[in-house]
Amino acid sequence: MSLKVLVIGSGAREHCLSWKISQSQLVDKIYCAPGNGGTALIAQNIDIAANDIDGLLDFVRKEKIDLTVVGPEVPLVDGIVDEFEKNNLKIFGPRKDLALLEGSKVFAKEAMKKYGVPTASFEVFDDADLAKAYIKKKGAPLVVKADGLAAGKGVIVCDTVEQALGAVDLIMIDKQFGDAGQRIVVEQCLDGEEASVLIFTDGTTIIPLVSSQDHKRVYDNDKGPNTGGMGAYAPAPVVTQSVSKKIIDKVCAPLISGLKKDGKVYKGILYAGLMIKDGEPLVLEFNVRFGDPETQAILPKLKSDLVEVILRTIDGKLKGLELLWDQRPCLCVVLASGGYPGNYQKGKEIDGLQSLENLEDIFIFHAGTKIAPSQQAAANVFLTNGGRVLSIAGLGNSITETQQKVYKAIEKVYFEDMHYRKDIASKALQFGD
Ligand code: AMP
Ligand code: GLY
Repeated sequence: MSLKVLVIGSGAREHCLSWKISQSQLVDKIYCAPGNGGTALIAQNIDIAANDIDGLLDFVRKEKIDLTVVGPEVPLVDGIVDEFEKNNLKIFGPRKDLALLEGSKVFAKEAMKKYGVPTASFEVFDDADLAKAYIKKKGAPLVVKADGLAAGKGVIVCDTVEQALGAVDLIMIDKQFGDAGQRIVVEQCLDGEEASVLIFTDGTTIIPLVSSQDHKRVYDNDKGPNTGGMGAYAPAPVVTQSVSKKIIDKVCAPLISGLKKDGKVYKGILYAGLMIKDGEPLVLEFNVRFGDPETQAILPKLKSDLVEVILRTIDGKLKGLELLWDQRPCLCVVLASGGYPGNYQKGKEIDGLQSLENLEDIFIFHAGTKIAPSQQAAANVFLTNGGRVLSIAGLGNSITETQQKVYKAIEKVYFEDMHYRKDIASKALQFGD
């Protein structure tokens, strides 16, 4: 086979997906829409936005693309898979009716209830007064969640009743997240250790990827505001063999088989965001795509051909497939622009990337970068072009060794006001090294 593959998105996740896809014997050419400075090195960047479904469809038909892999959630929730399938085009991900597992927290919670998936107890409200009365009755802590997509900002963990009432106002009265806040979920606040488990599924067979853990807060020791993710590592030691089995048997299998019985076949990646307490997993959220930055810590460990797995998922032929993994831990650290997750400047020159290129088991994945337009130099000059700029990942023999290796590599990279967390994967050390 010599496939033409399109990757949709522009983050480090998409650079990482493109990198892994480029290693496949099945692939001839990769396109990335819209891509970034890193994808430009291994794929042809196409200037079409990730949520421009019509534009993407036109491009894929014109260029006769054989396979489309979707990175972000918005096109999936908007129904890109349905549109492509109508046109007999191969695309990886769930259809619109099941992308709702991420697109609607109400849908996800009701599905969990229906299929017996362990999760926090909850109530759904479309009326702010009723929600507030419930909050006063229940007492804090509570978590208030906007129903729809809110770029990862629609979840408010509230330590006091006042905070929870304020969260209702913010979402339902001030409409901070627009229509996404027409309904809310108010749920029990869980404690424990968070982990992410992603599976490939064709609607029948479930194949888990290695577990991972994200670092959402901007500063060390989980301080400061939430971000899109400041780093990740895989595997997450809190997901022991027994926890992993429970995640498949109690979470993924009942959901996927329940949906199938109801005539809905889930195909693609399903990402379970979990809270693990006393060895029991509870679902915090589902995503219907690869995680960012988890993917950058997972795929360097994958030895199998990703394109083969993707094609078998689409064709309903996952049965019998075994994924091969590098057994070493992988960690990924995100380098961000000064001010991120608030306001930040773009266009800063990035130095030192070249000196990382030949380091063994170090991987550079670009996010908010672009190649400088008018360059005289022999090598590419990259400029910052977003909040999260780069993911630097590495494999090592132990967590400590991997941390040392990745952070040493990062010392060679510089752009003005760059910042990053210094404690990625330190939490894992409580389970041994
Ligand atoms: P979500 O987008 O639903 O994963 O929520 C974002 C973050 O909010 C999660 O990663 C958790 O840190 C936190 N969170 C969500 N739901 C709960 C809950 N029921 N209890 C405690 N923390 C939660
Ligand atoms: N790492 C969180 C996400 O991908 O949604």
